[in-house]
Amino acid sequence: MMHREPLAEPAGGSFVSDTRTMMKTAPHLRVPGDKSIAHRAVMFAALARGTSRLRNVPDGLDVLSTQRAMRALGATLHADGDTLVVEGCGGAFRAPDEPIDCGNSGTTMRLVAGILATRAIDVTLTGDDSLRARPMRRVAAPLAAFGATIDLSNGWTAPMRVRGNGDARGAEIAVTVASAQVKSALLLAALGAHGPTRLTGELATRDHTERLLAAFSVHVRADGGALVLDGPAMLHAAEIDVPGDISSAAFLFAAAAATAGGTVTVDDVGLNPTRTAFLDVLRRFGAEVEVRIAADAPEPRGSVTVRGRALHAIEILPSEVPGLIDELPLVGVLGAFANGTTTVRGAAELRVKESDRIESFAAAARALGADVETAPDGFAVHGPARWHDGAVATHHDHRIAMAFAVAGRVARVRVTLDDPDCAAVSFPNFAAALESLA
Ligand code: S3P
Repeated sequence: MMHREPLAEPAGGSFVSDTRTMMKTAPHLRVPGDKSIAHRAVMFAALARGTSRLRNVPDGLDVLSTQRAMRALGATLHADGDTLVVEGCGGAFRAPDEPIDCGNSGTTMRLVAGILATRAIDVTLTGDDSLRARPMRRVAAPLAAFGATIDLSNGWTAPMRVRGNGDARGAEIAVTVASAQVKSALLLAALGAHGPTRLTGELATRDHTERLLAAFSVHVRADGGALVLDGPAMLHAAEIDVPGDISSAAFLFAAAAATAGGTVTVDDVGLNPTRTAFLDVLRRFGAEVEVRIAADAPEPRGSVTVRGRALHAIEILPSEVPGLIDELPLVGVLGAFANGTTTVRGAAELRVKESDRIESFAAAARALGADVETAPDGFAVHGPARWHDGAVATHHDHRIAMAFAVAGRVARVRVTLDDPDCAAVSFPNFAAALESLA
């Protein structure tokens, strides 16, 4: 196992200087490395020529699925203290004898499918019950533009057999789903194709693939509203220090925001602007949020302090959804602590996450006393809830489990989760971190 710093540093109650005042700080915490960045860093290092060194790769189960997949395709990975050392294949992946098990991780399956689409090997990708129920046509259909043959089961789901085209040409593709996983799968396929690949359409999603490819010496060009990658392109080894995962920190921020007098600081967290919309949402709910950026490239990072205040309801518009997609269950929980009706619309994508997050959120919130209405593409929460003890069905969905652990702690009611351990998909020591909040 890799050595790690303690996840939750003790609440020091120390004093730090601020430009305006001296103020008492409540716990300074760190969260595991960013899952989205780590998936990409591990994949790109495995694909690259040379030896990459990756710091602060999280040991959540999803990123372990990506590590397993990269080993199966021929890369060598080993831990050196808190660094993951990856000997890349220089682009020459080989097909394993067995299907690759992507566990619960949609990012692993969809991005690896993209990489494989332009490599002349035949690989089957599978996963757990949840992943095998999630839509894969969204990557399989556009990847066919590279001449790959991709077989799915009847419901357009995994297992997914990818027979890549080693002689692919670059393609012009209009992306029709606002999904960073789809955009990334296509950019990764473009790495193995001859000539430019040009993507248009729904591209305003997290941009870690674009940023991390540049760190591995491959540049994605912005051309008007399009993204262009000139293939074939070889990645070169890199040293990457993964910042903390803002989508994990979000649970701690929400706990502080919903608690009068609550406060938390999370240090060294990723602040990529395509991921920080939740901080603005916290402000709109009425919380106080202070951001200090410490570094900018390849990924912005720094510290965030959140202080709780009385919350009032907000409205999330469809255009905001891609920037908040993983935080929407938390938006619902905060809505249940706020005065008024909080609405989320344009979020049908929630129905195809690790669980149907519209229904799993609503059922869990109602079980604890919240008044929730659902719609095909979102929900409305009439706050504040009349909280009471209750049992929550997580549907083995890490973000549902953590969102309702937060609700229980803030509302001071007993929440019984049917599968608290599923938090380990992204945040193995979540319970201890939540417990350490003042
Ligand atoms: C991810 C993108 C998002 C997000 C997921 C991770 C990524 O999915 O929900 O947790 O790393 O690209 P979509 O891009 O499909 O919305």
